[in-house]
Amino acid sequence: MKREEVAAFWEANAEAWTQLSREGYDIYRDALNTPAFLAMLPPVEGLAGLDVGCGEGSNTRKVAEYGALMQAVDISPTFIRHAQEVEAREPLGIVYQMADAHELPFEDARFDFVTAFMSLMDMPHQDSVLREIARVLKPGGFLQFSILHPCFVPPYRKTLRDAEGRVTGATIAGYFDDSQGQVERWIFSAAPKERQEAFAPFVIPRFHRTLSWWVDAIVGAGLTITKFGEPSASEELAQAFPTVADTRVVGIFLHVQAVNARV
Ligand SMILES: C[S@@+](CC[C@H](N)C(=O)[O-])C[C@H]1O[C@@H](n2cnc3c(N)ncnc32)[C@H](O)[C@@H]1O
Repeated sequence: MKREEVAAFWEANAEAWTQLSREGYDIYRDALNTPAFLAMLPPVEGLAGLDVGCGEGSNTRKVAEYGALMQAVDISPTFIRHAQEVEAREPLGIVYQMADAHELPFEDARFDFVTAFMSLMDMPHQDSVLREIARVLKPGGFLQFSILHPCFVPPYRKTLRDAEGRVTGATIAGYFDDSQGQVERWIFSAAPKERQEAFAPFVIPRFHRTLSWWVDAIVGAGLTITKFGEPSASEELAQAFPTVADTRVVGIFLHVQAVNARV
């Protein structure tokens, strides 16, 4: 699938995604994934950061609240407009702009760190995106990103439940399929029916790669992996937010931290 087609799908998703996530229906992100990501993030106060695939800016704002001087890019103009509107109302010094992560509009060695929350797996050429990120990172700067876990969320995954509806496992397949924009359609299941029905389902092109492919691409970009994270809900969190209970049985997200080894 061509980059322009991927961009058009995300632009079509952006209004519904912004409204529903701001209404609190992106439970995995808010309850589990972002808190775990931020817990793994090194100190960023006073550092120049770039958030790649920022969406409507919720996670960029969280990093800025730690004192980082943030810039952020997304391929979708509607996401960028929503992010800029929040910045105008409640300024955190974040500069948002529309850009394709395959061609970052920044000079070499511009940033102390780069974040990418759940965006890299949506891009067709993640190896060139990783090289772009390495290019704009200062020597010794770091990248931290989250993606769907390549091992546990390959192109086919079906969650298994017992008679009481408790998650007991998952059937997965297609791990070695190199997907080139396989389209998935869904909407935040936590949203009440009338809110789900107010929008067309999201249409999301997936670019699944194996774990070894990701490691090769990261290392090939000149980055050294320093940390992995695999968020899993505590018993208390799963009770408070049953949506995330499945992450106690099989992971959904992979977090990667890597340092620019260039000197
Ligand atoms: C799953 S959303 C995550 C958004 C946000 N980071 C969050 O955590 O809420 C993936 C984001 O990646 C963006 N995206 C996809 N392809 C992109 C590309 N080539 N360059 C920049 N952004 C891209 C989409 O527009 C979308 O905002």
